[in-house]
Amino acid sequence: MIKLNEHYTEIGNNYLFAEVARRVKEYKTAQPEKQVISLGIGDVTQPIVPAVIEAIHKATDEMANAATLRGYAPYEGYDFLIQAILKHDFVDRGIDIAADEIFVSDGAKSDTGNIGDILGKENLVAVTDPAYPVYVDTNKMAGRNITLLPCTPANDFVPAFPEKPVDVIYLCYPNNPTGTVLTKLQLKKWVDYALEHQSLILFDAAYEAYISQPDVPHSIYEIPGAKKVAIEFRSFSKTAGFTGMRAGYTIVPKELTATTSKGETLSLNTMWLRRQSTKFNGTAYIVQRGAEAVYSSEGQKQIREVIQYYMENARIIKNGLEELGLTTYGGVNAPYIWTQTPNGQTSWEFFDLLLNQAQVVGTPGSGFGQSGEGFFRFTAFGNRENTIEAVRRIKNLF
Ligand code: MLT
Repeated sequence: MIKLNEHYTEIGNNYLFAEVARRVKEYKTAQPEKQVISLGIGDVTQPIVPAVIEAIHKATDEMANAATLRGYAPYEGYDFLIQAILKHDFVDRGIDIAADEIFVSDGAKSDTGNIGDILGKENLVAVTDPAYPVYVDTNKMAGRNITLLPCTPANDFVPAFPEKPVDVIYLCYPNNPTGTVLTKLQLKKWVDYALEHQSLILFDAAYEAYISQPDVPHSIYEIPGAKKVAIEFRSFSKTAGFTGMRAGYTIVPKELTATTSKGETLSLNTMWLRRQSTKFNGTAYIVQRGAEAVYSSEGQKQIREVIQYYMENARIIKNGLEELGLTTYGGVNAPYIWTQTPNGQTSWEFFDLLLNQAQVVGTPGSGFGQSGEGFFRFTAFGNRENTIEAVRRIKNLF
């Protein structure tokens, strides 16, 4: 008899975005003539920029020639990409990170989920609520206990410290789903908390490229002491349209350690390399060449234009909702707009209303956690025409 990992019975049958997709598919099957607009999952709609496409084409041609063919990629990523990351994302910002602290991967979703492989089951884990569902679901799969840290308008979406000390803390800023941020001072308080309690912060910075205000940290390592307490996750998905290409990277500083029950102290950097080299065979060479081109001066100029385009969508959505009298959050340093649902509707009631009456798809706030009930998330990743049309349809409902 095959025994199931019973923790899977605790997480429900469907991942949030799979459940949204299921309901949308059901609706489209029943109403094939209706034009549905998705502002649901944060998937990009604008083409990958020319500098990246050119690099991908060139790398593809290399694969057609025995002299330039590349087989398995290094487990930690190609040096050309690691050096580009290091210079642009850290050295140029005055942050001291070493090349062997950078691990290129197939995206922040995998890494934020997989990082639990190297952490003991006994760790008490704190997760902001609402949150990207991967944090809670993967920790439940592993059988860990989770403490939720509510983030609501009442605390300005700034999580309070847990009542009981915790071992691991997930922070995502700019935040998915609320679109809110922490200032340097607010993030410093968390770094200080982790230093004091010897906890580990798992800092998801997937939306870093959307920061527009000066006092918002782009990396947790801007905060003194953070290298002693934090792992940081970065993504090319939202920065450069790589949702379908898959590339990200994770910083595991060499200062970080964890203890065993025998009292040994081991390096998390070493353990993460051990984990990756066993379970992961590297991000595709072609994709890594594409990611490298994101850091060229042309690449940077071109991705900035796409980010501006999405942020203009964010402004259109935010203004549209506010004209309806809805309170909104986010959308300034992040491509997500978080809004209170109208007339006290539950998140899923509002989802059904929008889908059935306006053929607009968003993401129910309650899907991100219990503190998300009564909220709803729109993404700015649509194309302009659809975004304007979606806002028009929502306005027509009221
Ligand atoms: C989201 O919509 O929250 C994201 O697109 C999901 C993801 O990045 O995996």
